[in-house]
This record gives sequence, structure tokens and C-alpha cells, in this order.
Amino acid sequence: MQDAQRSGLFVSFEGIDGSGKSTQARALADYCRAQGLEVVLTREPGGSDGAEAIRRLLVEGDPDRWSAETEILLFNAARRDHVEKTIRPALAAGKIVITDRFADSTRVYQGAARASLRPLVDRLHDLVIGIEPDLTFLIDMDPETALARGLARQSGEDRFEELGLGFQKALRAGFLDLARVNADRIQLIDGAHAPDAVATDVAARLEAQLRAMA
Ligand code: TYD
Repeated sequence: MQDAQRSGLFVSFEGIDGSGKSTQARALADYCRAQGLEVVLTREPGGSDGAEAIRRLLVEGDPDRWSAETEILLFNAARRDHVEKTIRPALAAGKIVITDRFADSTRVYQGAARASLRPLVDRLHDLVIGIEPDLTFLIDMDPETALARGLARQSGEDRFEELGLGFQKALRAGFLDLARVNADRIQLIDGAHAPDAVATDVAARLEAQLRAMA
């Protein structure tokens, strides 16, 4: 835990578009609630009223709508509101916060895929966000399969998926690098298995973390 006000558990799910992380985040929230634990299930970009408004600016429209720098600022503005209004209050109340994406997504989507921007991403995170999940599940997935899943949704939120297969491959490599460097926090999950099997794997690892903290 990084500060005295935090007594809950902060869990994030990460992965490339269509990796199944949203399904897994929901499944873990259901699992925890079934154990009688209090859970806040949330997502990024979004997760608070202000951040959901910023989300629409980010995920809809032309892929070239924003410069890379502006995009990083918007993600951080959304995340700051999410942390202030949703994440910190829930952790202070001792709840389990499960978020579908957090700062690792910015490191990889805005940082690793465009390497020269990673220092800006890291400095902004230190300045205005400052917290990390206790535990991150990286749902690893073959980009061709994942991309087909993501585009199949046609949600009107496909701005990032439209960047293509080469981009998704760079994202996967970026996430795997991050997992190697942050092996104490990031657990690598094989997303190629059936969703139920992945969910069982994730729940077992969460149980281990809760036991380790008890
Ligand atoms: P998300 O809603 O998780 O989309 P999906 O369910 O399809 O994975 O995220 C929307 C898009 O925003 C997704 O393509 C990833 C991108 N993104 C970033 O580029 N940087 C970030 O910091 C975050 C949180 C998301």
C-alpha cells in the first residue's frame, strides 16, 4: 500500500483491444461479491462522470483527431478525476476496486507504441496520478484474434482498434515488456483459454494475493 488512507485492494486489468479483459474484470467482480466482499467495478477511460465525458472525446471520431501529446493530457485528466471521485474514496472505505484499464494502458498505447513519449507519460503520471494498482492482470492475447473480436463489436468506439494490426502487435510487445519490468505487480494471464478457465486462473491468483496481505 502506498499511503495510509488506502485500506482496500486496487486491481487493474490490462491487455490489447479485444483481449477479453472486460469480461474477466466483470467475472472477478462477480466472484468477489459472491465471497461477500464489497467491490467497485470501474473502467478507463471513464469511471467517473467527468472522466466519462472525456472518454467520448478520446474514443470517438477520427484516429488523427488529437496530437499524441494532447491525447496523453486527456487520458491523465480523465484518470485524475477517476482517482479523485471513484478510486480513492472506495479504497479508503476498504473496498476492492477493479478497473478495466489504468495507467499501464497509457504507458503502452501512448508511450511504448510511440517510444519518444514515454518520459512524458511517466512524468505526468508521477505529477498528477501517483498511485499504482496493488495487482494487475495482463490478459495476453494474439493480436489477430483480438483485433477481429474488437472490430466485430462495432460499438462506435473503434478509434484505437482502427489503428490496425501492426499497432496491436506493438501494443502486445509493450505490455509484455511492462510485465517483465513490473513482475511483482503484473500477473501475466494466457487469454487464449476459454473465458471460464481464464476466470478461474484470475480468481485463484487474487485469493493468493488476499492471503498474502492478511
Ligand atoms: P477500452 O474501453 O478498454 O476499449 P476495449 O474494451 O475495446 O479494450 O479503451 C478504449 C480505448 O482507449 C482502447 O483502444 C485503449 C485506449 N486507451 C489508451 O490508448 N490509453 C489509455 O490510457 C487508456 C485507458 C485507454
